[in-house]
Amino acid sequence: MRHTDRRRRWISLVAIVAAFAACAAHGVAKPNASPSSIDYRSFDEVVTPILGRMTLAEKVGQMTQVDLAGLSDVDEVRTLALGSVLSGGNSDPEKGNSREAWAATYESCQQKAVASRLGVPILYGVDAVHGHNNVLGAVIFPHNIGLGCANDADLVERIGRVTALEVRATGTQWDFAPCIAAARDDRWGRTYESYSEDPARIAPLGAAMVRGLQGDDLRLPTSVLACAKHFVGDGGTSAEIKKSRFTGQVGLTLDQGDTRCDEATLRRLHVAQYPASIAAGVGTIMPSYSSWNGEKCTSHTWLLTDLLKNELGFDGFLISDYDAIDQCHDDYKTAIGLAINAGIDMAMVSKRHHEYLELLTELVEEGEVPMARIDDAVRRILRVKAAMGLLDSDYQPGVDAQAGAEFGSSNRRDLAREAVQKSLVLLKNTGIAPLRPDAGRVHVAGAKADDLGVQCGGWTIDWQGQPGDVTTGGTTLLQGVRDVASEAEVTFDADGANAAGADYAIVVVGEPPYAEGFGDDADLELPAEDLAVIRRVREAGVPMVLVVLSGRPVVLDEATVDGADAIVAAWLPGTEGAGVADVLFGQTKPTGTLSFTWPRSAAQHPINEGDESYDPFFPYGHGLTY
Ligand code: GLC
Repeated sequence: MRHTDRRRRWISLVAIVAAFAACAAHGVAKPNASPSSIDYRSFDEVVTPILGRMTLAEKVGQMTQVDLAGLSDVDEVRTLALGSVLSGGNSDPEKGNSREAWAATYESCQQKAVASRLGVPILYGVDAVHGHNNVLGAVIFPHNIGLGCANDADLVERIGRVTALEVRATGTQWDFAPCIAAARDDRWGRTYESYSEDPARIAPLGAAMVRGLQGDDLRLPTSVLACAKHFVGDGGTSAEIKKSRFTGQVGLTLDQGDTRCDEATLRRLHVAQYPASIAAGVGTIMPSYSSWNGEKCTSHTWLLTDLLKNELGFDGFLISDYDAIDQCHDDYKTAIGLAINAGIDMAMVSKRHHEYLELLTELVEEGEVPMARIDDAVRRILRVKAAMGLLDSDYQPGVDAQAGAEFGSSNRRDLAREAVQKSLVLLKNTGIAPLRPDAGRVHVAGAKADDLGVQCGGWTIDWQGQPGDVTTGGTTLLQGVRDVASEAEVTFDADGANAAGADYAIVVVGEPPYAEGFGDDADLELPAEDLAVIRRVREAGVPMVLVVLSGRPVVLDEATVDGADAIVAAWLPGTEGAGVADVLFGQTKPTGTLSFTWPRSAAQHPINEGDESYDPFFPYGHGLTY
């Protein structure tokens, strides 16, 4: 059964034009709202009839997103009339991680959705946070911390555009990105998902990613629904010493913690970057696991409804984080009622979706959750789906045959290589850089120099990432040096023992991959094996360029800094490691500037520009060039 025939579409188009004209005539706009580039309310002509025909079971189903791995059978998409399916960090198609396997899995889910009584298609969501990082062969871009140092909105928009093309090549049409957190304590395991400690630097980059992902028109087969996250204050939590919900160990924890500040500070540091994404038309926003002054964001009515939806004018829909509703109260039913009444429109549920659906239905039948709240949530979801063309009479559930044509192609990798070049920050240079590409011998030392998994970091093929060959195509930093310094003899060892006699040594150090709370780290020190390589090369008396592959500023002690003739922060560059070599050998100049303060020691954390006592190793905004 289709919802709009061509005549109705013509009527709805006229209605849309009329609605805009009416708004223009009367200047209708919400107070303080950033008028979105997409008027989601204008789709009510299409949405209202559907909403009017939905049963309560279909409404609560539409408000539910289930992890692919949690479905007992893909037919549940049809029988439960689910609104969405996601693949969480490790929830991959059974047939493996190829583009084709992802596309087949998407199609099997979507075919079930359109076979349901009302045939409302699903949104299929993934975390493509630095390219379509779940899929083998996809281009993996630098993580956000590197893009923040590049500080180039046009570049970010182009990355968003290519990411959207690669995401749609697997059928999936919803990306839980951009993360626009302002990470204020770099010991947080998600610092690399943040563009900067400074919301003023974040705002235009987040909006650019939204524009890139959502394209010129959400209904195009090349557009992807974006999701600004995690609202609000996800990066502002206070460090606590307690048992980690990730590692089970007692230690410093920040992830999913408590942001303790007054409203003015919350607005200044953590809300300020959202209006730009809303104005860019972002269709979904994900509330944070974290709390504000002890109250969970996921069930915070003032934050979600009064501030975000009413004051800031967000007309899309709110998707809770992965089982975040479970944390809102010890009793699951109470938690559900608190979260939905606070303003959550769709719940991300890993596997207890039957229980969730039953309890939410009970809450409505008992009057604990008003039907008006349910209808508002479903209306918001359907408006976004209408804007994406999912409710069109000629909607096609299959994956566009051409979508995979350029998947992981070389010209897309060229864009990633450009992003790597622009993301690097030259912290120190005695004049050794740029290195001569025709030098006699260049010695590359450190195992991380030849490790695609380390340079990609977390959220790559696996949720936590993995060192070694992540089995997706790419160029390690070492391979890049060999390509760019093709006239020099390039030698390599993991321990630095063979540096003596070389013209230069490029020593690559950094962090192993991690994601979320697994990355909360009190010390931020380089691994012992890295420090040993630095020491060996320094003892060999070879001029040294130190390249740091890390998700945040790590501790570089005085001796390390003094012993290096140049230091380059390369962050987590992704699959195109040659971009680092381009800068080291002067094919292009370093232009990146620190989007995070670089501390002298972990004890200085949190340390951010604007602090009263501010004595960093390298200040926010620092960056040398040739
Ligand atoms: C994760 C993250 C969130 C992500 C979601 C789905 O726990 O907090 O950023 O989008 O779950 O994978």
